Amino acid sequence: MRILKISMSGVLTILTTFSIATAQPEAISPEDWALYQEGINPGEVFAEEIGGELFNKPMGSEKKSCASCHNPDDTKFINQIGKYPKYQKECNKVVSLQQRVQMCQAKYQKTKPFSLKSEQNVALVTYLKYIASGTKIDVDTSSNPVVKDYYEYGKEVFRTKRGKRYLSCQVCHEFAAGRRLRMQWLKPLGNGSINGVEGTAAAAHWPGYRMTKSKVFTIEQRFQQCMKNAGMKKLPLGSKEMVALELYITSLSNGAEINAPGLVR
Ligand code: HEC
Ligand code: HEC
Repeated sequence: MRILKISMSGVLTILTTFSIATAQPEAISPEDWALYQEGINPGEVFAEEIGGELFNKPMGSEKKSCASCHNPDDTKFINQIGKYPKYQKECNKVVSLQQRVQMCQAKYQKTKPFSLKSEQNVALVTYLKYIASGTKIDVDTSSNPVVKDYYEYGKEVFRTKRGKRYLSCQVCHEFAAGRRLRMQWLKPLGNGSINGVEGTAAAAHWPGYRMTKSKVFTIEQRFQQCMKNAGMKKLPLGSKEMVALELYITSLSNGAEINAPGLVR
C-alpha cells in the first residue's frame, strides 16, 4: 500500500463535501477508515507529493519540468483544467487532460510520455485537478463539428446496451436512479437530479481515491470498473469511445465546482 507510506506531513485537509454516509466500513481497509475519521484524504497526499514532485521535475533531453512553462498559481492556466476533454487544433481531435499531459511530454519535454494507466500520468492529472479545485467544469460540446461529433458519440456510448447482461450506463445511472444495487444507491452522474435523486457531479471529483481499493483512479478507470461490474467488455483508456464518453459525462457536470481528488467508496 504505497500511498500510506507517503508522509502525511502538512496535509491535514478537512473533508467537507463528499459524503460517504452509505459506505460499508467492512469493505474499506481499517487504515483507510482511520484516515477518513481523522479527516485525511490520501488522494490529496498523492496529488501533492507524487504529482507535485513530477510537475517540478526536469525531464527529457530539454531538461524542462512542467513548471518551467506552467505556473501552478496562474489562474489563466488553472482555468483551463475544467475545460478538458478539449478540442486541440494541432491533431483535430478532442483529447482528455491525461492525453494533453502526454502531448506536452512528447512535444515540449521531448521525452517518452507516461502511459495513461501509469502512476505518473495519473499523479500529474490528479495534481492538475487538485490545483484547479474551486474552479468550474466547463467543457465545450458544440463549437465545431469535431467537438459535436465527440459529444454525440459519447452520448451514444453512454446509451448503448451491451455485454452479457445487456446493460448501458444509462440504465443504471438514469433509468434506475434512486434504486439500490448490492447495497449501493444508483445515482445520476451530472449536476441535475433524475427521479428526484440528486446527481453526484462525478467529473468534479475524479480522479478520486477509492477507499475500497486504497488507490487513486482516473474517471476513465472508474468507467472501466463499472463496465467490468456490469459485464461489458472494457473500452481501452484513451480510445475515441472512451474520450467521447468522458466528454459527454463531464458535460453533465458543467458549472460544478471542481473538488478533486474525491474520497470515494
Ligand atoms: C516547454 C514548455 C512546456 C512544457 C515543458 C510543458 N508544457 Fe504544457 N503546454 C505548453 C504550451 C505552449 C501549451 C499550449 C498548447 C499548445 O499550443 O501546445 C501547453 C498546454 C498545456 C495544457 C493545456 C492548457 C490549455 O490551455 O488547454 C496542460 C494541462 C499542460 N500543458 C500541462 C503540462 C504538464 C503536466 C507538463 C509536464 C508533464 C507540461 N505541460 C510541460 C508548454 C509546455
Ligand atoms: C449495473 C449498474 C451500473 C451500470 C450498468 C453502470 N454503473 Fe456506474 N456505478 C454503479 C454503481 C452502483 C456505482 C457506485 C455508486 C457509489 O459509489 O455510491 C457507480 C459509480 C459510477 C461512477 C462514479 C460516480 C461518482 O460520483 O463518483 C461513474 C463515473 C460511473 N459509475 C460511470 C459509469 C459508466 C460510464 C457506465 C457505462 C459504461 C456505468 N457507470 C455503468 C452502477 C452502474
